[in-house]
Amino acid sequence: MPADDVKTHWETVYTTKAPDQVSWYRPHLERSLSLIERAAGGVSASIIDVGGGESTLVDDLLARGYQNLSVLDVSQAAIDVTKKRLKESANRVHWITADVTTVDLAPGAYDVWHDRAVFHFLTSRKKRVAYVNAVAHAVKHGGHVIVSTFGPEGPTKCSGLEVMRYDADLLQHQFGTRFRLVESSKEQHHTPFGTTQQFLYCYCRIG
Ligand SMILES: C[S@@+](CC[C@H](N)C(=O)[O-])C[C@H]1O[C@@H](n2cnc3c(N)ncnc32)[C@H](O)[C@@H]1O
Repeated sequence: MPADDVKTHWETVYTTKAPDQVSWYRPHLERSLSLIERAAGGVSASIIDVGGGESTLVDDLLARGYQNLSVLDVSQAAIDVTKKRLKESANRVHWITADVTTVDLAPGAYDVWHDRAVFHFLTSRKKRVAYVNAVAHAVKHGGHVIVSTFGPEGPTKCSGLEVMRYDADLLQHQFGTRFRLVESSKEQHHTPFGTTQQFLYCYCRIG
C-alpha cells in the first residue's frame, strides 16, 4: 500500500471510530507495560511507542513516573485524541507524526522500542526491511525491542487490511541476528466485539 494510502486509512479509522470501538482496544496494555518495565530498568529510560494510536500505554507509563517518553504514529487524529486525554501531561511526551518505514529518527535515541500491532501490517519485504533498519538505527546498542504481532492462529486481517502472522522464530528471523530473542509469549486478546485474537509478544536485545 502506498505511503499516502496508509496515512489516509488510519486517519479515517481514528476520525470515524471511538477509541474503544476498534478490535485492538483494551483498557490497559498490561503485557506491554510489564515487559517495558522489566526492559527499561528505571524511569529515566528513553522509550518509544511506535504506532501508539489511542492506547493508554503512554498514560500508564507517565503514571509510573517514566520521564523520557515518545509516541510515534502515522495518524495525527490518533495522536490528538491521546494528547487531549492526557491534558497537560501531554507536554511531558515527545510526539512524532510519521510513517515508521520512512521516519528519520535520531541515532541511538532509545533504550526501549515498543510496538503492539504495527509491524504485522507490513506485508512488503521492502517495508519490513525499512522498519528493521529504523529499529537498528534508533535503538541504542544493548537496547530493548518489544514487538507484538498476531500469532500463528491470529486473524489474517485487521482494520480491513491484510496482515502477516508470526511465531517467535519467524519474527526473530525478520529482525536478523543483531536481535537476540530474550523471551516470547502469546496472549488471547478479547476484542470489544466479543471475539478473541491470538497475539505474539517478542522481547529482544539488540547488539
Ligand atoms: C492496530 S493499531 C494498534 C495501536 C496501539 N499500538 C494499540 O495496541 O492499541 C495500529 C497502529 O499503528 C499505526 N500505524 C500503522 N501503520 C503505521 C506506519 N507505517 N507508521 C506508523 N504508524 C503506523 C496506526 O495508525 C495505528 O495507530
